[in-house]
Amino acid sequence: MVYKLFFLLLVISSVYAADHEVYRNCSRVDLCSQNRELERQERYKVILEGAVFAQEWQASGYKPQTAVKTVQIEETNSSRYHINDALDGEPTVVNFDDVQLSLTSAEIYLGNNKAVVNVSPFSITFYTDDVLTVVVEGDRLTLQKEELHTPFTFGVSFPQALHLYGLHEHADHLALQTTAPGGVDPYRVKTIDLNNYELYSTMAMYGAIPVIYGHGFNSTSGLFLHNAAELWVEITNNEVGADAFFMADSGALDLFIFLGPSPVDVVRQYTSLTGVAHLPPIWTLGYHQCRWGYADQQDVQTVIAEMDANDFPIDAIWLDIQHTQEMKFFTWNSENFSDPVSMLQNLSSTNRYLVVLSDCHFKKQEGYFVYDESLANDYFMKNLDGTVYEDEGWPGPSSWMDYLNPEAQEYYSSLYLYENWNDTTPTLGGVWNDMNEGATFNFTNERTFPYDVYHYGGVSNRDIHNMYGLLQVKATHKGLIDRDNGTLRPFILTRAHFAGSQRYAAFWTGDNTAQFGFISISFSMCLNANLLGTVFCGADIGGFFDEPTEELLQRFFQAGAWLPFFREHSNLGSERREPYVFSEEVQGPIRDAMKMRYEHLPVWYTLFYEHTRTGDPVIRPLLYHYPDDSDVFEIDDQLILGRDILVKAVDEAGVESVRMYFPGGEDLMWYSAYLDDTFYPGTGWIDVPVTIDRIPVYYRQGGIVPTKVPEASTTAMKDGFYVLTCVLDNNHTATGTLYVDDTLSFEYKDSQKYSYLSLEALEYDVVLSPIDDSEDEDFDIFVGVIVTITFDDDGKPVKRIYTHDVDGVPLVEKKFQGKEPLVIKLK
Ligand code: NOJ
Repeated sequence: MVYKLFFLLLVISSVYAADHEVYRNCSRVDLCSQNRELERQERYKVILEGAVFAQEWQASGYKPQTAVKTVQIEETNSSRYHINDALDGEPTVVNFDDVQLSLTSAEIYLGNNKAVVNVSPFSITFYTDDVLTVVVEGDRLTLQKEELHTPFTFGVSFPQALHLYGLHEHADHLALQTTAPGGVDPYRVKTIDLNNYELYSTMAMYGAIPVIYGHGFNSTSGLFLHNAAELWVEITNNEVGADAFFMADSGALDLFIFLGPSPVDVVRQYTSLTGVAHLPPIWTLGYHQCRWGYADQQDVQTVIAEMDANDFPIDAIWLDIQHTQEMKFFTWNSENFSDPVSMLQNLSSTNRYLVVLSDCHFKKQEGYFVYDESLANDYFMKNLDGTVYEDEGWPGPSSWMDYLNPEAQEYYSSLYLYENWNDTTPTLGGVWNDMNEGATFNFTNERTFPYDVYHYGGVSNRDIHNMYGLLQVKATHKGLIDRDNGTLRPFILTRAHFAGSQRYAAFWTGDNTAQFGFISISFSMCLNANLLGTVFCGADIGGFFDEPTEELLQRFFQAGAWLPFFREHSNLGSERREPYVFSEEVQGPIRDAMKMRYEHLPVWYTLFYEHTRTGDPVIRPLLYHYPDDSDVFEIDDQLILGRDILVKAVDEAGVESVRMYFPGGEDLMWYSAYLDDTFYPGTGWIDVPVTIDRIPVYYRQGGIVPTKVPEASTTAMKDGFYVLTCVLDNNHTATGTLYVDDTLSFEYKDSQKYSYLSLEALEYDVVLSPIDDSEDEDFDIFVGVIVTITFDDDGKPVKRIYTHDVDGVPLVEKKFQGKEPLVIKLK
């Protein structure tokens, strides 16, 4: 018996852990092992004599007085590779206010920021309001030259920081952990298809965003290493102050420094450089049903019919690799998907969309048009000797598109046109670009491209490895835009991502496992991504590997409904887990969670719109809104949707209560989003009772939350009236915003066709007024119901539900129209 148990445990742990033989740790990678313990010493001196300071403080679009600063350090006659494509155009250049040179330093002034270049020992120090916030250290700077590449190292410290954040993507806590020789490996930043990823690990994953923020009281700053080569980053958290030692494999030492001084500022400074996502079509904010293995078009139709029959809202169904003929992307499997157009018509008749997978490797087969054309036109990546690079992909021997080649990029985009991708219609509304790290089945090279493969212009993969996926989604995005002549907003899901990928695609956290810990890690990973501009993030609900228990699935749905991208997905051969296959007892909480998602669609859509204007995250860690409360700096299993909705993931089996943090102080109440009259003051940790029915979700006092009555799809909800829930503060006021447009097209951008309203509640008046002067205000807005929550003298909440105004006029008959504010008097 004992032996049996031991055997069982052994099997479980060996299946669901990354293979450390395949994926290398620091000791097996020269870049890390040889540089990690680099001695601190002065290696370079600055010669200030005759120095010219280029006027290149880079202004942030949102707050030009707080600067983004570039630092580039190179050898004379440098051959270092500089990347393109990550930045969203050239940053604005502004003049310095003053530069003061002395024998020992150069001081550069701009607004309330100052940078000092110290000659010896060499360092660059950055101050905001005379507070030292970022130090680029010279004593760990090395610029190296190997035969085929140009590694470098540098140290940076954040003297005010209590924690560091960023360096996406890792399955780790939001606050970066201390790494050290003999302890945890440095954070590895390299796009890799990490199979069976482990929790709380610094191993490299699918995404690579080389941005780090330091945050402490009254001070947030950060940096972006504008470089797409492999990195290892050693983190040291001190009592006060934290530092990061970067070991980069190749490319240029090209830094952008963000001087904050708040979390909101650094995020805006970073997103002003690398751009923001355009608004997603609204259906992509609904529920997505996926599994690896929907067998045929009948299966697709049955799933939709069952979801409808069982009252589960849904907007999209997904097809994995099998929809193709022998894994040849841009083809349909002639047997199982013999009539894709009728499948698409059928979906469209129920207002649902199809998303299909399309990878970046192409089956080596004569007669397969993509392979033939790419080979003939020299569009594939190459080996050093100029032959076409081949490796194993899903279809067996394959070659990979070289998106660095502008012609290949153009060609790849054109594959998405209706005339080139047979039997597709606009109902095929989205594309799933998977395996684009570039993943291969080459186990001897960590399941990814070797470095000695080459791109257009002889650029080695080493120099651009981390941005291969970005280049692919850029091309896909263009293809989908062209496909509809620029009218419809495309939707792309990518697995690999880099700085800038957010402009083109949503991403998900890859092949997770059906365990409770993967629920909270999805909060942590998506919060981190949201701080790094990459807002459209989700996780495979239920876990990709292994089978979830019913309780785990319920908890995953409840948490996943509060992540920006909401999709169930599972591995090939997994048991069916569409919500309707379970007993009614299991279905109930899942249905409620899904409806809660649809109900809050106006909040999601408004936040995505606001992201396009400001770069602000859609979901936020508590530290973003409570930057001076050090108790929240490490909280990452709770999120705030926008400013007003606080959510806690339940990530344990069988619990009757969870410990949850309520921020904001004793004068701020958090009121239950289920409107059941429970509430807590913002005084910190509280044990909150939970049942299986739902997870804790609370509205912030002082906020107005716009919702709608959930329906079977987002399209079905389009003309529904709004419900405004106003949780009035102690002055009896509350505020919010609401954004409305046609939900699908680029007219909101191209012709300013939208309505963006401020919502204000004052005692018994609720006022909707336009925020911008410019727009057309083409969209009528009906508020059918207003709910007000006030707290009486004993501190007890009083809930009132209004469907008529003070004159007895039904609220649905009063609409916001044109530019005039709509004032609704309730009493
Ligand atoms: C790997 C992806 O991460 C997974 O979601 C997908 O189902 C498989 N590739 C098959 O395409």
